[in-house]
Amino acid sequence: MQQIIRHRLVSKERLFLKVNGFVLIAAFLLSGCAGSGPVKNSKSTYRNGMVVTASPFASKVGLDILKKGGNAVDAAVAIQFALAVVYPNAGNIGGGGFMVYRAAAGETNTLDFREKAGAAASRDMYLDQSGAPIVDKSLYGPLASGIPGSVAGMVAAHQKYGKLPWAKLVEPAILLARKGFPLSAQQANELNGLAAQLQQLNPDGTALLKTGKWAPQDLLIQEELAGTLEQIRDHGKAGFYEGKVADQLIAEMKRGGGILTKSDLQQYEAVWRKAITGAYKQYQIITMPPPSSGGIALIQLLKSVEPYPLKRWGYQQDSTVQLMVEAERRVYADRATHLGDPDFYQVPTQGLMADQYVKDRMSSFNWSKASLSSAVKAGEPKGKEHEETTHFSIVDQAGNAVSVTTTLNGSYGAVVLVKGAGFLLNNEMDDFSVKPGAPNMYGLIGGEANAIAPGKRMLSSMTPCILEKDGKLFMVVGTPGGSTIITSVFQTILNVVEFDQNMQQAVSNKRFHHQWLPDLVYAEKGAIDSLTRLKLESKGYKIEPRGPMGRVDAILKTKDGSYQGGADPRGDDQWLGW
Ligand code: DON
Repeated sequence: MQQIIRHRLVSKERLFLKVNGFVLIAAFLLSGCAGSGPVKNSKSTYRNGMVVTASPFASKVGLDILKKGGNAVDAAVAIQFALAVVYPNAGNIGGGGFMVYRAAAGETNTLDFREKAGAAASRDMYLDQSGAPIVDKSLYGPLASGIPGSVAGMVAAHQKYGKLPWAKLVEPAILLARKGFPLSAQQANELNGLAAQLQQLNPDGTALLKTGKWAPQDLLIQEELAGTLEQIRDHGKAGFYEGKVADQLIAEMKRGGGILTKSDLQQYEAVWRKAITGAYKQYQIITMPPPSSGGIALIQLLKSVEPYPLKRWGYQQDSTVQLMVEAERRVYADRATHLGDPDFYQVPTQGLMADQYVKDRMSSFNWSKASLSSAVKAGEPKGKEHEETTHFSIVDQAGNAVSVTTTLNGSYGAVVLVKGAGFLLNNEMDDFSVKPGAPNMYGLIGGEANAIAPGKRMLSSMTPCILEKDGKLFMVVGTPGGSTIITSVFQTILNVVEFDQNMQQAVSNKRFHHQWLPDLVYAEKGAIDSLTRLKLESKGYKIEPRGPMGRVDAILKTKDGSYQGGADPRGDDQWLGW
């Protein structure tokens, strides 16, 4: 009830603000409170550093931290918390993600803050009595949530590499939550579209709901979330996994039939893992190991196409598209069988990326006819013993680079905000294979490697990535997009290194995607021209139109040593340099 009253008040405030329109919002932004209205770049490249995120507000937060002497990890922590406020469909404290780090001197590391299944999770928890998946059960409500990893991840990253005090990094997010920020047109639309579901899953109301419709420039104020962020500011990891916030999260579990317990929360740890690395021509790829499938798959894809003259064939020409699609078909077949949480399943990492293995996989491919996915199975790599997300890229003044992809899984995750704590729960449990062969929300299938088990991390496609060229920093890249993440990163890299596009063109250009099953080439409008389409269709490829794929945010280090940004026009994404 208190919540409803609060929302009525907030709605009144909004009405007032609407009436007074721009003046108030402008005054508010100029006051520097909500941290900062959007700013614009005056140049196309910058020498001191750069951030690219899904929100102009989060980009501004990151840039401010860099300018105050923070390093790339400090900026990443501040951005992660800011995105939880200004990009609630994917930015999060109730979800998880991955960080890939490369120090200016070349040291690399990765941080796994992926969610985990609770101790009470079980293999068949999303099946009905006949053994069929109950789809909504792994998608909506607290039962869909894994143990959140983001706060533990940010604490671990800061402890190892951070320079500025922790509180200074959380503070901008608190201000944005308490003072509010103006919604973009896309955000207002999304929230209006989600209203019925938000209402149903949050009967006591949430700050994301309003009486009437959201309009662009409406202020979104999230007081409860500000309170939770204050706990995190003051108590670090304990501010989320213990005490008041933990109690609120567990109460939400009880209310909505979730299974996470206090001991699940207390036991959660983020894990430092050795980066996956692989060479493509003179480039070195530094990316995420399992439980992401993305790193291994990206290196398999690049190795699959490396022997062919892509540059000569040209960008999006029929041979180029056909080759990439056939590589994708085989790599995603491997993903479905061989990839899972390495703490639970022996992933044949080196076997999958071995040159000879990749070559053998591509040998079944025939230029005159599309392969059939039904005839392409996972390979037999050596070392096998048994059978809406968001990305941000940062480079700091010293040249340290951070690539982070973080997610609630679906847009707005489980669509449940923890009562009193104001943050959204993830629905990451759907990334497990809830039943062998049953597709998840991205159409991905899996088996034993990615079966649900207590304490296990669900397989991910997130592919935060850093590239070196001739031993020096070259690119920072990544994207959301579920199953399309890996192929979007793949295409963005090729756009730059093979097709000589600048960072923004490489990000903006239209994308296509194949994931083995279903046996379709998904293509954004304009990704495959009509002649190429005809040629491919005559060989048996089925091309299916699709809406926007991913939101790639990337940084390129140019020949003269300055940074060039690529912010995805599919969203409100923005790069900022200094
Ligand atoms: O980890 C994964 O692969 C998915 N949970 C990512 C979800 C995602 O990218 C949603 N954004 N569009």
